[in-house]
Amino acid sequence: MADGFSLNDAVCGSGNPNPQGWPGPWGNPPAGAGGYPGAAYPGTYPGQAPPAAYPGQAPPGAYPSPTAPAYPGPNAPGPIPGQPSGPAAYPGAGPAGVPAGPLTVPHEMAFPGGVMPRMLITIMGTIKPDAKKLVLDFKRGNDVAFHFNPRFNENNRRVIVCNSNLNNNWGQEERQMIFPFECGKPFKIQVLVESDHFKVAVNDAHLLQYNHRMKNLREINALAVSGDISLNSVTHTMI
Ligand code: GAL
Repeated sequence: MADGFSLNDAVCGSGNPNPQGWPGPWGNPPAGAGGYPGAAYPGTYPGQAPPAAYPGQAPPGAYPSPTAPAYPGPNAPGPIPGQPSGPAAYPGAGPAGVPAGPLTVPHEMAFPGGVMPRMLITIMGTIKPDAKKLVLDFKRGNDVAFHFNPRFNENNRRVIVCNSNLNNNWGQEERQMIFPFECGKPFKIQVLVESDHFKVAVNDAHLLQYNHRMKNLREINALAVSGDISLNSVTHTMI
């Protein structure tokens, strides 16, 4: 039932062809999500990939495969802060030093200097066939600055719940009914840290943004990835 956003396709395996068909991430966000013209990236930041590397330049509906770099990532020139680099950094790593995977889940990546604007975190893996949930937690110690939680069956609906947890208390949830994940299928999540919010794209399509509640970004020092997935890579770079 491809009814646009397929809100009721709650059960894994029910089939739900990619409902969005948006052009590349942050190239043409949905109304109300904030404007990120794709053209704002090319030429804006020094040292970035040529425009052809941006999926915003791709024909509408063309989704690069999850292995194709949407943004200058670990393959781009320059060191990746806080992360090993070079072919020797990981056994079995590819030429760019990215782990070949799979990684154990739950997985935690430390950000020794915290996060900062222009930091792009990329998570790649595959949703398990019978998945219930996927969780990204950007953490400050026990606090969670940004909880990104796709739920595959909440009262027969699929929903992404975002929230923060301070001193063991969850705040007000921000819910997104657009649900780009599919059971049994590979995914790529890109989280771009900006000064006022985290911006999230899935499979090269902008999904949501989450305003910073924990405003001292330098204190957000880890990302925990958990849930019903197999995990291929978690990387970060500056754009
Ligand atoms: C709770 C759930 C937590 C977290 C939170 C977000 O119901 O137990 O794991 O997802 O919602 O608001």
